[in-house]
Amino acid sequence: MEVSIAVLSGDGIGPEVISESVKVLEAISYKFAHTFKLGTGPIGGNAIDSHGSALPEETLSICNESDAILFGAVGGPKWDDPSNDVRPEDGILAIRKSLGLFANLRPVKVYPSLINSTPLKPEFLKGVDMLVLRELTGGLYFGKPKKRWTTKRGRRGVDTLKYTENEIKRILEVGFKLAKGRRNKLTSVDKQNVLESSRLWREVAIELSQQYPEVELEHILVDNAAMQLIRNPASFDVIVSENTFGDILTDEASVLSGSMGMLPSASLSALPGEKASKRGIGLYEPIHGSAPDIAGQGIANPIGSILSTAMMLRLSFGLEEEARAIENAVDSVLSEGYRTADIASDGGQKVDTGKMGDVIAGQI
Ligand code: IPM
Ligand code: MG
Repeated sequence: MEVSIAVLSGDGIGPEVISESVKVLEAISYKFAHTFKLGTGPIGGNAIDSHGSALPEETLSICNESDAILFGAVGGPKWDDPSNDVRPEDGILAIRKSLGLFANLRPVKVYPSLINSTPLKPEFLKGVDMLVLRELTGGLYFGKPKKRWTTKRGRRGVDTLKYTENEIKRILEVGFKLAKGRRNKLTSVDKQNVLESSRLWREVAIELSQQYPEVELEHILVDNAAMQLIRNPASFDVIVSENTFGDILTDEASVLSGSMGMLPSASLSALPGEKASKRGIGLYEPIHGSAPDIAGQGIANPIGSILSTAMMLRLSFGLEEEARAIENAVDSVLSEGYRTADIASDGGQKVDTGKMGDVIAGQI
């Protein structure tokens, strides 16, 4: 197979983890005789510095010419001044929106070999295998009005949590379908005791559930969800939630896997094989950010990015065996005891970012 991939590494540890994903892709290309044509472009803070925009035209056109996007991370203290007009994060938000990537899949699993690297008691982690489906192009992130202004009585700021019925329906549909391919349970997260958008969300979920009688639909308030994720994580199969709730809950859920650095994600405009409204290309990125505090030290965990690469092979290119090869390689290096700093609390052999990439690529 010959495909082109836009590789956007971004800021902070983005380039460090992306290098390891590229290493792993090279191993896959060698073993399975595929050609991956990689294009790159600036995004985030470095793009603001060089082009005055967090998502320059040239980067967007590289994305538009590619079959998938591999994304690192954006942001950093250099660009964090709240009075700035442009922010690094605008880059990733603009790509998600312009490519219609409304469905963000964040699988959370527990690695038996990492159970002692988490701060949780092992008995709470048994059987954890969930998929968090986060709505990615609506809600507070994009709702208008969104602004800050000054009045006689002081400064004000507003963000808007707005969803249309169709936006809710299309993400819930993905949730039901994903649950059907798993353990037939869908947990819909909302805050319907307070928020109008949540009341609509729940109403649409109940209506849609008629079409999926085989899937058990459960509703849970987001504050309770935050608690159950730690108290009873194995009870979840597929969780579906609006944008901001999903952002928060997945950082929390990453603790179950041992570290933020472990979780991959896929952002899609349609499930594989289904018709997409836009071009239908997927974006794959770890859930972690640019981690400026550890950038440049070679200690970042590249596994979230490497597992995102596996998701890309599976979901964008249908390369199931190749995706498994990466996931199995990750499983085995973890059971052999290789650890980046963030997951090293149980001992094991501490390695840097590059070595972790080497051993994973080596297994392939
Ligand atoms: C994530 C990140 C982003 C988000 C930031 C970098 C804009 O936290 O992908 O979870 O909030 O979506
Ligand atoms: Mg986040």
